Amino acid sequence: MTDCGVVVVGASVAGSRVASELRDAGHRGVITLVDPDPDAPYDRPPLSKQILAGEWDEERAALGDPAQWQAGRRVAAAIGLDPERRVLRLDDGFELAYDKLVLACGMAPIPLPGMPREGAHLLRTLQDCRRLRADLERVGSGGRLVVVGGGFIGAEVASTARSRGLDVTVVEAQEAPLSGLLGTEAATELALLHRDNDVRLLCGTPVVGLVGTPSVTGVTLADGRVLPADVVVVGVGVRPDTDWLEGSGVPLAADGGVLCDEYCAVDPDRTLYAVGDVARCHDPRREHYVRVEHWTDAVAQATVVAHDITGVDRAPHRPDYFVWSDQYGGKITLLGRPGPDDTCTLVRTEGPRRRFAAVYRHDGDLTAVLTVNWPKALVAARRAMADPAGAEDVVATLKNL
Ligand code: NAI
Repeated sequence: MTDCGVVVVGASVAGSRVASELRDAGHRGVITLVDPDPDAPYDRPPLSKQILAGEWDEERAALGDPAQWQAGRRVAAAIGLDPERRVLRLDDGFELAYDKLVLACGMAPIPLPGMPREGAHLLRTLQDCRRLRADLERVGSGGRLVVVGGGFIGAEVASTARSRGLDVTVVEAQEAPLSGLLGTEAATELALLHRDNDVRLLCGTPVVGLVGTPSVTGVTLADGRVLPADVVVVGVGVRPDTDWLEGSGVPLAADGGVLCDEYCAVDPDRTLYAVGDVARCHDPRREHYVRVEHWTDAVAQATVVAHDITGVDRAPHRPDYFVWSDQYGGKITLLGRPGPDDTCTLVRTEGPRRRFAAVYRHDGDLTAVLTVNWPKALVAARRAMADPAGAEDVVATLKNL
């Protein structure tokens, strides 16, 4: 059995950052990154945007210099864990002994029944992105793309494909995409971006299956309709990739997230850590565990873990609720997290494209601000969110921008 020092399972932004932050914090021991993805660590946000659009070379998405990862990288999937013996089992037959184990294994996209099938795509990895880009190129301008799910993946892929001239339809199960997160009013306003850009949006009816063999030729909706398609992209959500941890003793939440303390440590001995999308961290301010699927949060957690392991500048993690999305040449940001009972006030303004903000409050306190194609509103929102119970009336501020 190989002694592998700090072993990190998952080499996406959270995992690879733990490795580089450990080095920055002075850790000189062995670090081993385990991931079945054959590509050296890369950033995911450009996969639905610049790389899919063909605007960026893949190298621009690289996380660090690919050469730096060669020594400590193992292209394999973790399939079992024995925390007592401190041993990780891999699907290539090897077992790795570790001093510390960092679980950064991320999320797995949820497929539709009937997948895999030619022309029907999930989008999570660089390989997925290459395959989808090739298909978009194959069908070319005017080709019919059906996007299943109007969440972040769906909206960004729709936008990118539209910029390449495809005929795009988005099918969303809810009454408006992201209505669970943003509430109906703001979500309905946001959805108009699709219409503004000649993308058809069908809401309120889920896709239940795919048609066409061996290549996809359409999707079936719950009401029996069939939408023809040359290419289908499925973005119906993700779930923590932690099935392999079942029965290992690692505490898992009902959604598969790994329970950890505010330093991302899973066990009292501080041998196991969780970071990134899979980590469900204790937040003492709210007295509960939260899992945040945002890039900025993953980056912040990686520093917390590296500092906890090395003992350098040790500090607890405080969840950072900030997410952005680039769609149709503009930018959408969400600062904070709207609650189901929040009041929502929309502030619309003129601009070269649809531009508005949604301000969320709970018992008078500011809880979140959504901005759409409005950079100045984001600046004002950041200032106001720094003091959510403060006197500033952010709605009045936005109206005067
Ligand atoms: P998501 O959860 O954001 O959206 C999935 C959507 O699919 C939901 O609106 C849901 O109602 C809908 N849906 C589910 N089943 C359906 C069905 N059968 N037919 C039609 N609609 C259906 O998940 P998504 O978009 O797959 O994104 C996956 C992950 O990637 C998320 O963690 C997301 O945060 C992340 N991501 C983030 C981006 C960003 O921050 N800009 C960009 C791209 C992805």
